[in-house]
Amino acid sequence: MIVCVCRRVSDREIARHARAGMGFDDIQFELGVATQCGRCESSARDVVAQCSGTCPSANMSLAAPLVSGQPWNTPAF
Ligand code: FES
Repeated sequence: MIVCVCRRVSDREIARHARAGMGFDDIQFELGVATQCGRCESSARDVVAQCSGTCPSANMSLAAPLVSGQPWNTPAF
């Protein structure tokens, strides 16, 4: 979804930068979000807040490495 119409910046793009550790100011500088009319600023900040390092789900990783098993098409003899 496009968050910033003026600069054509999507929520995915903002989220990707936030997950990379960038704050709103850095993202604003990098992408130009909320630098024209400013109507998107609160929405953009919400996306950053949801994806920043303070959000536990943003830093989820697998608790255990994936275990390789039988391929799905192995014949059962
Ligand atoms: S909609 Fe983002 S600056 Fe105008």
